[in-house]
Amino acid sequence: MEKQKIILDCDPGHDDAIAIMMAARHPKINLLGITIVAGNQTLDKTLVNGLNVCQHLGIKTPVYAGMDRPMLRKQIVADAIHGETGLDGPVFPPLVREAEKTHAVQYLIETLMASDGDIILVPVGPLSNIGMAMRLEPRIIGKIKEIVLMGGAYGLGNLTPAAEFNILADPEAAHVVFTSGVPIVMMGLDLTNQTVCTLDIIERMENIGNRASELFGDIMRFTLKTQNEVFGLEGGPVHDVTCVAYLIDPEIFTLQEMYTVIDITGGPSYGRTVCDYYGTSKMPTNCKVGITLNQDHFWNLVEQSCSVYND
Ligand code: RIB
Ligand code: CA
Repeated sequence: MEKQKIILDCDPGHDDAIAIMMAARHPKINLLGITIVAGNQTLDKTLVNGLNVCQHLGIKTPVYAGMDRPMLRKQIVADAIHGETGLDGPVFPPLVREAEKTHAVQYLIETLMASDGDIILVPVGPLSNIGMAMRLEPRIIGKIKEIVLMGGAYGLGNLTPAAEFNILADPEAAHVVFTSGVPIVMMGLDLTNQTVCTLDIIERMENIGNRASELFGDIMRFTLKTQNEVFGLEGGPVHDVTCVAYLIDPEIFTLQEMYTVIDITGGPSYGRTVCDYYGTSKMPTNCKVGITLNQDHFWNLVEQSCSVYND
């Protein structure tokens, strides 16, 4: 079976943590590296969270610290959803795992330039690391096989009526990525909000009875509270996990090609992914946008990804 070579770029982040768990041990995925970006919380916190998840689960994949701020706009974080630490809920043992010395942007450039063009980037936080790497070394654009990202929406946003957090946290970086010409799969909120992790799902995963399923429960039980307070949801959508699930089993998704442009004009729709759902612009499409997923198959994939941590 051909393993997909990926680099997971994330801002752990409750759903980011589950995405790391799924990507690190799935037989269809070769997780080359984990790059961390500021997003859900400041970089010092998202980095610790990423390292804690890897240390706790025995994930040996190298972790790289990246951009601690957006390319241009003022920094925002998502503490209302992810808490003061960015991963409130689980309690980890003392952290001894360290990040690599190389900056994440430099790692992305060096790895992509040395590759055969067979690496998929999977950004599930603000696109600051990816955008900066493209600006620093434009030749990587021809070396990226595909970008499968969590961000945006063809419908409503979740931070403003128009904009989703990952894109709004660094719209200029998103503009660089969406205008790069690299093939993009965009898992936006219209798709990812179909993965609300309710209490029954949490209990299903906890019943597996290993450290990954226990961590899943500790992580997702926290979001039961914040997602209900902020959005009135009965659980936390595992937004980022949809990107990894797509790489494992694309058949459970439906996608639609759309021309998508990022609003960087700074008005009330700043940071919106303006998706041409009906093709009225007649512009050539630049991304495939997630429309639906088979939820039963998706949660089976999540259950399988918890079950492989039985050592
Ligand atoms: O809007 C959802 C996205 O913002 C997810 O990636 C979540 O982790 C947060 O970063
Ligand atoms: Ca994220």
